Amino acid sequence: MIWRPFTQEKTAEKPVKIVKGDGIWLYDENGKRYADMISSWWVTAHGHGNKEIAAAIAQQASTLEQVILTAFTHQPAETLVENLQNVLPTGLKNFFFSDNGSTAVEVALKIAYQYFKNRGDTQRRKYLCLEGAYHGDTYGAMSVSGKNSMYHFNFSEFFFDTFTIPVPETYEGIEALEVSEAQILENLEKKLQTEGSSFCALIVEPLIQGARGMVMYRPQFLEKLVKTVREFGILVIFDEVFTGFYRTGRFFAMDYVSEKPDIVCLSKALTGGFLPLSLTITTDDVYNAFLSDDSKKALIHGHSYTGNPIACAAACKSLEIFMRSETRQKVATIERFYRSRSLEGVKKRRTCGLIDAFDVGSSERAKKVVHELFKRGIFMRPLGSTLYILPPLCVTMEELEWVYDEIRNALKSV
Ligand SMILES: Cc1ncc(COP(=O)(O)O)c(C=O)c1O
Repeated sequence: MIWRPFTQEKTAEKPVKIVKGDGIWLYDENGKRYADMISSWWVTAHGHGNKEIAAAIAQQASTLEQVILTAFTHQPAETLVENLQNVLPTGLKNFFFSDNGSTAVEVALKIAYQYFKNRGDTQRRKYLCLEGAYHGDTYGAMSVSGKNSMYHFNFSEFFFDTFTIPVPETYEGIEALEVSEAQILENLEKKLQTEGSSFCALIVEPLIQGARGMVMYRPQFLEKLVKTVREFGILVIFDEVFTGFYRTGRFFAMDYVSEKPDIVCLSKALTGGFLPLSLTITTDDVYNAFLSDDSKKALIHGHSYTGNPIACAAACKSLEIFMRSETRQKVATIERFYRSRSLEGVKKRRTCGLIDAFDVGSSERAKKVVHELFKRGIFMRPLGSTLYILPPLCVTMEELEWVYDEIRNALKSV
């Protein structure tokens, strides 16, 4: 029996068996096709079956499939690090490999705590996080998603200590944002004035909280938030597992702010959606705190497939495609398309980069709309009462037009 993720197997519908992927399309065993409008959980960046990435994988698999990344290094990892450094802010220079978004976050949390411990400060044991955050399903990642997380409630008794900061949600028609943003920062500052020295890091999903339901907030708020915690010597982690690689319209969400993070997590679209791979990237200041004659001060963490050459080769090719000017233009074209199309009767519409999100009133209705769309050959997944679209970059405007027509039809029918 295949035990599926996030699925109540007793009541869920049987899965559809997919036999082929091509561009935005997934083909089932009976020949029916589905337009993958959520890029298969936000990983399939350029499209299913992208020939260039497939060829890079085949080439690497027949050259060097795997090697332990301790005594050895290899070209795909070195090329990837070098090329990523060209698109990252200048201070982010040290790259730790792991296999998925949750482990990238786990590594970031460990680094932040040990950074202070290595410098003799063992008081900073707590983390600051945002309300409704989602950083993955391992214990550390769950802990910084807050005790009220809709995903992790079964385990909250095990979570370590955090302080949760409210998020000033931003969407079409929202008013008095500046007031609520200022209030949140004022309350945070008060908290930090008494307890600031007990926190090692702030972790955020910059600008968009994907799994919470595509909740968006403004760069102005993020900028001030980072400045505020920095005044208390707290490290800043940006979890760009979801927002990285043009999801927000710019290459990284951090490109919208001048206060850059100390630690960044990348995964999901890193390999274009072909293979699991992730990175936790730090500044020299953070990295240098681990250099010592004392072996216990090293980052004692690793995974069997750390820096797998085939995954790195896929990531190098994916990055090459991302860097092309036509990719940047396509991102802008898709966002313009969203902004020029109306959706009657939906609430809290919010559009940013490759994401168009809106609420349909209730989670029951969202499920019904998605069910209706599935019958029409469009695959989406609701997040509570929110529906959103995040297609692979190979999508055409004709395909998007059809999808929006079908969304309007589905909304009318349920
Ligand atoms: C912002 C963010 N961080 C971390 C993760 C966890 O990534 P993974 O599912 O690869 O463990 C996710 C997954 O959705 C995410 O959206």
